[in-house]
Amino acid sequence: MHRLTLIPGDGIGPEISNAVTKIIKAAGVEIDWDIQPAGADVAETEGSPLPERVIASIKKNKVALKAPVTTPIGKGFRSVNVALRKELDLYANIRPCKNIKGIKTPFENVDLIVFRENTEDLYAGIERQIDENSAESIKIITRSASERIFEYAFQYAVKNNRKTLHAVTKANICKLTDGLFLECGRNVAKKYPQIEFKEILVDNLCMQLVQHPSVFDVLVLPNLYGDIVSDLTAGLIGGLGVAQGANIGTDCAVFEPVHGSAPDIKGQNKANPTALLLCAINMLRYIGEKEKAQRIENALMKVLETGKCITADLGGNATTTEFTDEVIKNL
Ligand code: NAI
Repeated sequence: MHRLTLIPGDGIGPEISNAVTKIIKAAGVEIDWDIQPAGADVAETEGSPLPERVIASIKKNKVALKAPVTTPIGKGFRSVNVALRKELDLYANIRPCKNIKGIKTPFENVDLIVFRENTEDLYAGIERQIDENSAESIKIITRSASERIFEYAFQYAVKNNRKTLHAVTKANICKLTDGLFLECGRNVAKKYPQIEFKEILVDNLCMQLVQHPSVFDVLVLPNLYGDIVSDLTAGLIGGLGVAQGANIGTDCAVFEPVHGSAPDIKGQNKANPTALLLCAINMLRYIGEKEKAQRIENALMKVLETGKCITADLGGNATTTEFTDEVIKNL
């Protein structure tokens, strides 16, 4: 029996968490979920959207599955997601992006991985109002954080037989900050001559990604560009409903999809649980449940490939519940 933390999140979070835990149970994986609510509702009752008990639970269990949590725009509390990544030092945000059979997109042979530095950059949240008409935000880039994300990405590339790694920056404009990030990439690259190291500016990358994404392999980006580009790459393979992710640190790992809490479809039984399910499959492999992870993946891929029982975001009309039951039927 595994004891793992589950953050059900808000918006569509509880709906897709229910779907995923139901599928995992049906596949026969024994998990004792330590359920830890976080977010706006929790802030009202407990005074913080990310109470200490959530952090303590992940520190204890080491592994968490996390559904999305809403972050209010403008005023209000700091992002639970950013705080969690910072508190647990989950420095590597990994977002694989590969075509899925049965999901039609304008692109073929997309198989790339975005490595997003997860702890600094403009996400450090060091902002201030100068006066009524101006505000500023400080972009933090350090050698240690930049080197460790490149190190992680290169090691991953070697282990997984990847060929090329692009360092993605805007170092022509942000000469000191992105310049330092790039310099760290160049330095780490020297240790991995078997991987071809390339440099690209983020604007050029975006243009090329929507023209011929299949040429890209491993991308390493500072936090903000990584956030934006990984939504773009999600779009290449069918959208946010199928885009998985993982936050890895030295001690803990939090598996969460790229998408947010989708307030526009909340409570309508319309959400696609695929992204969270792919995260869970990855998590099961991480905790050693490889055979059951594969069984769930096969069932999921069969449902997506057949295309008869898929959710609205993928052009179908199945509800979250129908899709979930179909995956279970195919286990
Ligand atoms: P979003 O990702 O929630 O939604 C964007 C669009 O994609 C919406 O039309 C939504 O309906 C659709 N979508 C997303 N996931 C889907 C799914 N599983 N199935 C079907 N359709 C799906 O982005 P948005 O609207 O910008 O953000 C909403 C809230 O989520 C914000 O408060 C944001 O801060 C938060 N957020 C949280 C994240 C997290 O917890 N890791 C990540 C990104 C955003």
